[in-house]
Parts: sequence; structure tokens; C-alpha cells
Amino acid sequence: MRAAHITQYGDPEETLKLVDMEAPEPGPNEVRIAVEAVALNHLDVFARKGHPADEGKFPKQTGSDIAGVVDAVGDNADDAWVGEEVVVYPGVSCGECEFCMAGEHTMCHEYEIIGEDRSGGLAEDVVVPEWNLEPKPESIDFVTAAAVPVTFTTAWRMIVTAGKLRPAERALILGASGGVGNAALKIAERLGATVYATTSTEKKAAVVREHADEVIDHTAVEFDEAVMTLTDGRGVDLVAEHVGQTTWQQSINAMAMGGRMVVCGATSGPEPNIDIRSLYQHHRQIRGAPMGNRQDFGDVLSLVANGELEPRIDRILPLHRIAEGHAAIDNRDVIGKVVIRP
Ligand SMILES: NC(=O)c1ccc[n+]([C@@H]2O[C@H](COP(=O)([O-])OP(=O)(O)OC[C@H]3O[C@@H](n4cnc5c(N)ncnc54)[C@H](OP(=O)(O)O)[C@@H]3O)[C@@H](O)[C@H]2O)c1
Ligand SMILES: [Zn+2]
Repeated sequence: MRAAHITQYGDPEETLKLVDMEAPEPGPNEVRIAVEAVALNHLDVFARKGHPADEGKFPKQTGSDIAGVVDAVGDNADDAWVGEEVVVYPGVSCGECEFCMAGEHTMCHEYEIIGEDRSGGLAEDVVVPEWNLEPKPESIDFVTAAAVPVTFTTAWRMIVTAGKLRPAERALILGASGGVGNAALKIAERLGATVYATTSTEKKAAVVREHADEVIDHTAVEFDEAVMTLTDGRGVDLVAEHVGQTTWQQSINAMAMGGRMVVCGATSGPEPNIDIRSLYQHHRQIRGAPMGNRQDFGDVLSLVANGELEPRIDRILPLHRIAEGHAAIDNRDVIGKVVIRP
């Protein structure tokens, strides 16, 4: 089979290589999927550029958002899966600890992500645990299905499960053109909340505006000040924060009295310099939301299946053009998801 490997840290064209290799065989409780579509995330870019938690082992086969057809099963896996169209929940956990028993798989101490800690789906075939399979809803195609798992599950966790956004509240979504940001934008809009969104160019703003009450160009104004002006000095109840150290202080400042900031990432860096008085003196809270659990995935997938949420697909590329997808994310020239079709 063909697979796309990251061979070292560096630029897309130099580091992403197409390789021919034996298709992997599923072990006990595993299945093999013929991959039809696999979406890129910022996670794939971090794997290529380096990241504080990255172990630097090469080659890497990333790809966490997988949709395809099961073509083989290992021992103890149900052979009724063979021929089924599936989409994959990306988190792998022990299944036995107190957190797994409570359904909180991403809290498990053995938690891993397919495509980060294990071989991912940027290949013609990938092996995953049977437990991670979800039948692909018939109403959506493989490309749409692949655009759901990482970003929509995380965004659902941020806005609904951890953020507890209510229809009468106001939300601020950062980087609303990106994968997580665009998903969070649509989820907050669907809930009926008043939605403020930041983005960086007029082209992106035009797309974001379709789902937001107000769009703020964070390159032109200080977005915390803009939020305070738009809300008559009140601020927002919820901030969806994934940008990190360059935006944390402004995100905190943009919260209303008692507001919540939900965090899933740190694209610009993990070490913000903040004034903690801006938190406690306003009764503000910070909540972590690194990915959602299986229930979050099921909830958001069903809303995509019935047409209430729609991932935005920026572009679809064949596997041999994966470097273009990485470069587009590097250059912030993406609105929504880049999907690869191996
Ligand atoms: N923990 C998890 O399981 C999990 C899951 C999903 C994502 N994440 C994290 O969430 C973050 C976003 O992921 P994603 O896949 O949505 O990324 P993405 O598609 O590349 O989107 C990131 C967006 O952030 C905005 N941005 C603002 N400042 C930036 C900067 N300094 N560098 C790059 N982008 C900047 C950009 O939008 P504008 O140009 O519009 O400002 C960009 O579109 C990443 O840090 C990722 O690791 C974590
Ligand atoms: Zn566990």
C-alpha cells in the first residue's frame, strides 16, 4: 500500500514522502480499514514542525480523522464489520480505569490518539481497534465524515459539554476559520447564542460572517476591546480558546463577570503571560477540553448526519499532494478542513 510519511522536522515538500509498504495486519480486537478520506488537523503540522510533547521519532504516519471501509478483522473482532462503511473515533484508552468506566476516555492515563501516538490514516490502509468504529451515517459522504472526529468532537466538548453555553448567552470564538474554530462557530450558532468571532482576512471574514453575529479582524483591532464595545462593556459568557499565548490575556479580558474560557490548544505557544487578577477579580473560570469523549463524538456526528451541522471542506487532495495541504495550514490559507483521499 501507499502511505505518506513525515521523515524529519521541516518544510512540507522536503519532509513528506510517499512510501510503498506492506498493508498492516489487524491484531486481536483490531480491524483494518481501506481509507477513503482522512482530514488534516493542526496536529499533523505539529508532528512535522515539532512540539514540546513530541518525541521526535521518525518516520511518522499521522492522520487522526479516518473514514473508510473495513476490509479485514483480527482475532476476537466481529467479522460482520467487513464491507461496512465506518468513521473512526480517534481516542484510544484502557477501558477499565475509573475515568473510562465513567465514559471519560480522554481522562484515561493511557489515553492515546490515532495518528499521534499510533499509526494514522494517511495511507491506503490503517489498523484501528474495533472499539473505535462508528458506522458512517448513510446521509453523509466519506469526505464529510472524515471532517468530523477531531475538530467537531473537540468543539462540541468546548461549547456544550465543558462550556455549557446556553441560547441566551454570548460566545466568542477565536480563529473561527480554522478546524476547531469553524466547528465551534457552527455549534454555538446552532444553540442560538449570540456569536462573536475573530479571524484574520476579509476572505475568511466573509465566510465566517455567515454563522456569526459579529466578526472581528484580530489583525486590525484589539479583539478584547472590540468585544467590550460590541457588548456595551459587558463581555461574553464563553470564550473558545485554542490560539494560546498570544491571545490568552485578551481572551480573559473579553469575558463577562463570571465568564468561562474553554481551552483545547495552544497554536501560538503554551506559555501565556497573564495577570491573574484579571481572572479572580471577575469570578472568571478556565476549563480544559482536550478532545471529547465517545458520547460527544456520537452527539455531534448525529447532528452532522441529520444536516444540522455541516463541516466546511476547504479542499480535497490526493495523497501524493499532501504537502500542499500542510503548506496551506502553515500559511493560514485554509477555511475549514483539508481532506486527503488516499
Ligand atoms: N487537544 C485536542 O484534542 C485538540 C483537538 C483539536 C485541536 N486542538 C488544538 O487546537 C488548535 C487548533 O487546531 P486546528 O486543527 O483547528 O487548527 P487550524 O485548522 O490550523 O486553525 C487554527 C486557526 O487559528 C488561528 N490562529 C490565530 N493565531 C494563530 C497563530 N499564531 N498560528 C496559527 N494559527 C493561528 C487561524 O485563524 P485566523 O487566521 O482566522 O486567525 C487558524 O485558522 C491547535 O493548537 C490544535 O493542536 C487540540
Ligand atoms: Zn482508562
